[in-house]
Amino acid sequence: MNSISGATARTVHQIARPHGFPAPDDFAFVESAVPEPAPGTALVENLYWSVDPYHREMMDGEFALNAPLEGRTIGRVTASRTPEIAEGEIVFHRQGWRTHAVVTPEEAQRLPRFDGVPLSAYMSILGGTGLTAYVGLTRIAKLREGEDLFVSAAAGGVGTATGRLARVMGAGRIVGSAGSPAKVAYLTEQVGYDAAFDYHAGPAVDLLAKAAPDGVDVYVDNVGGEQLEAAIEGLREFGRIVRIGTVAQYNALEPLSAPRNLTEIVEKSLRMEGFHVRNHRHLQDELYDFVVPHLQSGRIGLDETIVDGFDHIVTAFLGMLRGENVGKMIVRATPA
Ligand SMILES: NC(=O)c1ccc[n+]([C@@H]2O[C@H](COP(=O)([O-])OP(=O)(O)OC[C@H]3O[C@@H](n4cnc5c(N)ncnc54)[C@H](OP(=O)(O)O)[C@@H]3O)[C@@H](O)[C@H]2O)c1
Repeated sequence: MNSISGATARTVHQIARPHGFPAPDDFAFVESAVPEPAPGTALVENLYWSVDPYHREMMDGEFALNAPLEGRTIGRVTASRTPEIAEGEIVFHRQGWRTHAVVTPEEAQRLPRFDGVPLSAYMSILGGTGLTAYVGLTRIAKLREGEDLFVSAAAGGVGTATGRLARVMGAGRIVGSAGSPAKVAYLTEQVGYDAAFDYHAGPAVDLLAKAAPDGVDVYVDNVGGEQLEAAIEGLREFGRIVRIGTVAQYNALEPLSAPRNLTEIVEKSLRMEGFHVRNHRHLQDELYDFVVPHLQSGRIGLDETIVDGFDHIVTAFLGMLRGENVGKMIVRATPA
């Protein structure tokens, strides 16, 4: 492709498959000329990037080596050769991990703008992260008012969104687990969790029994393993387990040995169900309708860790896997 005025675009490639925890050297920043859009396409300068646990899963095979990666991103259209996308428009698309992208109208999604709601929210509670939490609570758990909840990875993107949404949906006691005392304090002081524990502080089954002595009705599982085992123990009869992810597994070299108590699923008549948010995209407008008024009134706050500078995208991704984020990990272009 031709370039626009000789400017440089940067794209992250994965160049090696990780064994266990990924390293910065598994990635490379590749420079090229900023592409010119072909007829029927538009050039987008990306402004916000999402780095996600599923990218770690894709590093094992789905990401082609030495090729641009995919990821959710928001950018401004800087040149357009299609009447369907106007220059200056803000669009969402999936050609992340790069400073510039050429998109077709089908690939670019125009974002609605709501007064007082920042763009970053489309990467957190109004984006796939919030939709995951919303689907988990409304469609999978079918949460009813007054029901008690346990959420793992509670201080992450999905976990904070789950706590915030469950609170305004009228949940009873909301208990979370996270990886540090600072995160535990954040959950109870900022997000609206009633109790929280650091999962490093002892066996999960004991920590959960202490935080939720009367048990819970719903477990929102972002982690799997020992915490899933603890939740099965702590769930009441007819409880539901919403399987969202298994972040405890993604960098492990061996399969997790827990849960070892699946027999309780029968004994307590529990229901365990997983889902992919991509199969629930039709609920996006319902999510906006539910969340935006609460964002505007301040009843729901944003939980985001924003890292400035595309140069830091790999560091931000690895940091998220290590738990350096509170809320959704988002990378933002350095303002020009
Ligand atoms: N099903 C779907 O469609 C869907 C969609 C989006 C996300 N997900 C899943 O939802 C989960 C959360 O995703 P997210 O985007 O919100 O990421 P996130 O929770 O913001 O970030 C990942 C968090 O995982 C925690 N973690 C890392 N290693 C861990 C371990 N060994 N044990 C327990 N916690 C660990 C870290 O927090 P700590 O400091 O607390 O350890 C880290 O902050 C992931 O499992 C992801 O795959 C699924």
